[in-house]
Amino acid sequence: TVTVLVGAPELGFAAVPKSLADVVAVPAGYTVSVLYRLGDPIASSLAPYGNNGTDGDFARRAGDHHDGMSYFGLQASGSAPDAANSTRGLLVLNHENITQAYLHANGPTSVAGVRPEAEALKEIEAHGVSVIEVTRGSNGGWSYAQGSAFNRRITPNTLMAFHGPARGDASLRTAYSADGTAGRGTINNCANGSTPWHSYLTNEENWAGYFRRNAGDAAIRAAAGRAAQNASLARYGIAEGRTGNYGWTTVTPAAADSTIFRRWNATASAGLPADGTGDFRNEPFQFGWVVEIDPFDPASTPRKRTALGRMNHEGCQIGRTVAGVRPAFYMGDDAQNEYIYKFVSQQPWAAADANRPDRLAVGDKYLDTGTLYVARFDASGEGQWLPLVFGQGPLTPANGFTSQADVLIHTRLAADALGATPMDRPEWTAVNPVTGEMYCTLTNNSNRAVTPASGSQRRVDAANPRAYLDPRSDGRSPTRGNANGHVVRLREAGDTSEATSFTWDIYAFGAGSDLDPAGINLSGLDATNDFSSPDGLWFGLPSNPSGQVTPLMWMQTDDGAFTDQTNCMMLAAIPGIVGDGKAQTVTSTLDGQTATVTTRAGRAPGATLRRFLVGPKECEITGIHSTPDGRSLFVNIQHPGENGNPANITSNWPANQTAAAPGQRPRSSTIVITRDDGGVVGL
Ligand code: FEO
Ligand code: CA
Ligand code: CA
Ligand code: CA
Repeated sequence: TVTVLVGAPELGFAAVPKSLADVVAVPAGYTVSVLYRLGDPIASSLAPYGNNGTDGDFARRAGDHHDGMSYFGLQASGSAPDAANSTRGLLVLNHENITQAYLHANGPTSVAGVRPEAEALKEIEAHGVSVIEVTRGSNGGWSYAQGSAFNRRITPNTLMAFHGPARGDASLRTAYSADGTAGRGTINNCANGSTPWHSYLTNEENWAGYFRRNAGDAAIRAAAGRAAQNASLARYGIAEGRTGNYGWTTVTPAAADSTIFRRWNATASAGLPADGTGDFRNEPFQFGWVVEIDPFDPASTPRKRTALGRMNHEGCQIGRTVAGVRPAFYMGDDAQNEYIYKFVSQQPWAAADANRPDRLAVGDKYLDTGTLYVARFDASGEGQWLPLVFGQGPLTPANGFTSQADVLIHTRLAADALGATPMDRPEWTAVNPVTGEMYCTLTNNSNRAVTPASGSQRRVDAANPRAYLDPRSDGRSPTRGNANGHVVRLREAGDTSEATSFTWDIYAFGAGSDLDPAGINLSGLDATNDFSSPDGLWFGLPSNPSGQVTPLMWMQTDDGAFTDQTNCMMLAAIPGIVGDGKAQTVTSTLDGQTATVTTRAGRAPGATLRRFLVGPKECEITGIHSTPDGRSLFVNIQHPGENGNPANITSNWPANQTAAAPGQRPRSSTIVITRDDGGVVGL
């Protein structure tokens, strides 16, 4: 039970200034420690990372591009969960992508268009998920246990099982899994979630980019009676002519299983079976899912939860759980003008399930049956959750939908048919643990327009009300559309996760504090809290020294329009409640045209939103979790120095965090932030 005392809680630190320095900066009285870096070994026999491009063995080292992350408390001595343990736990984190240049001695190579097998294998294995055991020592410092039996790398080659309505569907059949029930690995894992039954949810975001699709594929599919697949592949961004990220399909493999490279070529072969079991034409349909991992069982097979739909899954945050009430999971589909979703389990929550040792079976109970909804935001300040249920509304054979599996595999097409609201790139979702309100970062959208000029642009509306030009002082072209992003939030009708309608408002609009207060800086941000391109978002629930429990929100940023003035950052907030603001008229001007809409703006955040951290050069701040006592905060620093290469190293972080380290290559890393007096971080 949670007790919230009367009296306004306050943030307990001085704001960190914007910065372009190559270091992680935090408020006075706090310390940053580097815990887990790209390449760090997670098996006892493995050598330290040389960080010079010669290292291999990434299936037993930390991957690259640390992203979403959860801490799971572990028994002090033992192997079962202990949700209250703040000194020993399992840290599970995503490795979303790679900075290819730094993984090799002199950057990536190819000979006559063919990538070397060893380079491609390294790049593949540097994606995925890490599970590591971490402990806080008697001196207060954190370390990971290199030889722990819990340590695990999940890579794009790890065996996965399909669960839920799409398991075994014809669209999931491949040369690897003739019955469409199994697959290999997960890729471009962005944000995360964790469940009350101690499992981890990793989310497949920009997976489409890894696939090659040759010209002529659409004709082969059409001739094979699979014309409908072409519309879906196009809707998910897999057009003919794509070569696939990093050129993995060009490898001429010596490996025993050559398909770990060939599988990224989704081109159908005319001479092979139309059902897709002879090649990898259906491989793209095996990606775009939420994947559940049991971090406490290193031998377990992760399960792709198809009931939660297929999209560019950013995160998956469970709402408040109430015994006897069906729980909800909130998700963003991160691409321009995509949608916000929630999945409501068919089964009501039973608290005893939190303690069951068969965690993935509990996942089967709550994540394999239920209803997926997509959000429509109305100008009235209300909104509707539209069900993606086969046979209901337009989701019928007359419109091309043949089953619930079909609706889920082609989630975006179903959501289009229902009239969902296109949003400014839905990133992370977070739920206020006290009020149950759901927040979603909308990071930015260059295709938000005053006068839409192309089919991919959308006009400003109540929930996405800004389109403008944001100049940059570093010589790059201005950013257009909703250049700085915003954070939308909603409150379920009746405050129940089962609701099919909600009210909404906008928590904060990103903006530089120097920008137009009437059209851009609508939240009145100042030098202590101006931000752009919100992305990572998470609520902790720490207590301050007087025992006051406070829902403390952390917000992280990704690139965007502000990197001429500052590196990416993390802010802390004690937000108000949905509806604490008022209707606000917004006039957008772009390309000489204007549009006026009325939005629902929350109260200006003022001193309740404050910058806590600024990262090193060219990084994104993404991934956050805390120990249950709120005294150790884990944060990921993704791709420092991402625009450089071995001949032009643009960041030396983290080697330079405490002393200059010229020549050192940068490494994505997990850091731990603690307060020097041992107190709760942020309050
Ligand atoms: Fe991987 Fe949408 O951020
Ligand atoms: Ca993100
Ligand atoms: Ca982003
Ligand atoms: Ca990134």
